[in-house]
Amino acid sequence: MEQEIQKEAIPASVDAASDNLVLNHLVPGTEVKVFAPATVANVVCGFDILGFAVNEPGDEVVMRVTAQPGITISKITGDNGRLPLDPAKNTVSVSVLHYLQSIGRTDLGMDIELHKKMPIGSGLGSSSASTVAGLFAAKTLLGDERDMAKLLPFAIKGEEMACGHGHADNVAPALLGGFVLIRSYEPLDVIRLPHPSGLHCAVVFPDVDVPTREARQIIRNKIAMKDAVTQWGNIAGLVSGLYTQDIDLIGRSMQDVLVEPVRSILIPDFYTMRQLAMEAGAVSFGISGSGPSVFAFTRDEATARLITQKLQQHLAGIKIDSQAYVSTINDAGPRVL
Ligand code: HSE
Repeated sequence: MEQEIQKEAIPASVDAASDNLVLNHLVPGTEVKVFAPATVANVVCGFDILGFAVNEPGDEVVMRVTAQPGITISKITGDNGRLPLDPAKNTVSVSVLHYLQSIGRTDLGMDIELHKKMPIGSGLGSSSASTVAGLFAAKTLLGDERDMAKLLPFAIKGEEMACGHGHADNVAPALLGGFVLIRSYEPLDVIRLPHPSGLHCAVVFPDVDVPTREARQIIRNKIAMKDAVTQWGNIAGLVSGLYTQDIDLIGRSMQDVLVEPVRSILIPDFYTMRQLAMEAGAVSFGISGSGPSVFAFTRDEATARLITQKLQQHLAGIKIDSQAYVSTINDAGPRVL
């Protein structure tokens, strides 16, 4: 963005006027390139309410101001042709359009290049990384200095479109960075949680397809009070462990009696992988989001690397390709590249 940037006030008729929004005057050709991170949703016991961002993988978006009003998608790479270029069908452009509507600027023209740098349908918040990258690029171009949380409703709309349900446990940490609790959806109440700084995360993606939409359909709608009590105890224990930096408490709280028993059947050798990870020194192990990726928390990087090695070796032995990532918790969220 080399042009001299002039600011312009948003007309008082627009909702965002209550935020005293002053935006950049956009010159065609101005562009920005951003990265948004993958995320681990649920964090085992917190179905739809807990998630954290990782350093890698993630997606990149290049957004360019065009002279013609409207949103276009000129290029998508790394998706093997799986994502629609039609801006009415792509979650990135649809979310950006909702955002522009909210600030009364549908007169603007923006072109999107989406570079997928992570597997689709992996349980690592692939659609949310793209959506958040798009929203963050638009916010950056416009010089909208309001809190990132302002973008959350538009990102949730993107999730709704991607999998039929507007859960926020991927988009909220992708947007805000760090470890995030969605205390309530109606009204939306999102809280950033602290975490022990040394906590590392080993993620392994076994290359089998588990679409979130389907992984949600197999979950039971009713649960027994006894199971709910166990789950509440674990969620409270995990949050408490995050605040007190008690890694043992974090580990023993990460048990899921509601969703994992059902979803684990979609993941090849899930329980063998858990055993391998725990024997190699994991603090905890579970499904990342709706799977098939799995993750383990560890106290250090070397243990995380050992775990990814063991799990990938095991998967190779049963003829399943995989990808692995080792990361700390990414507190920064999206960034300009
Ligand atoms: N909470 C969501 C689910 C996350 O488990 O379906 C999807 O990545």
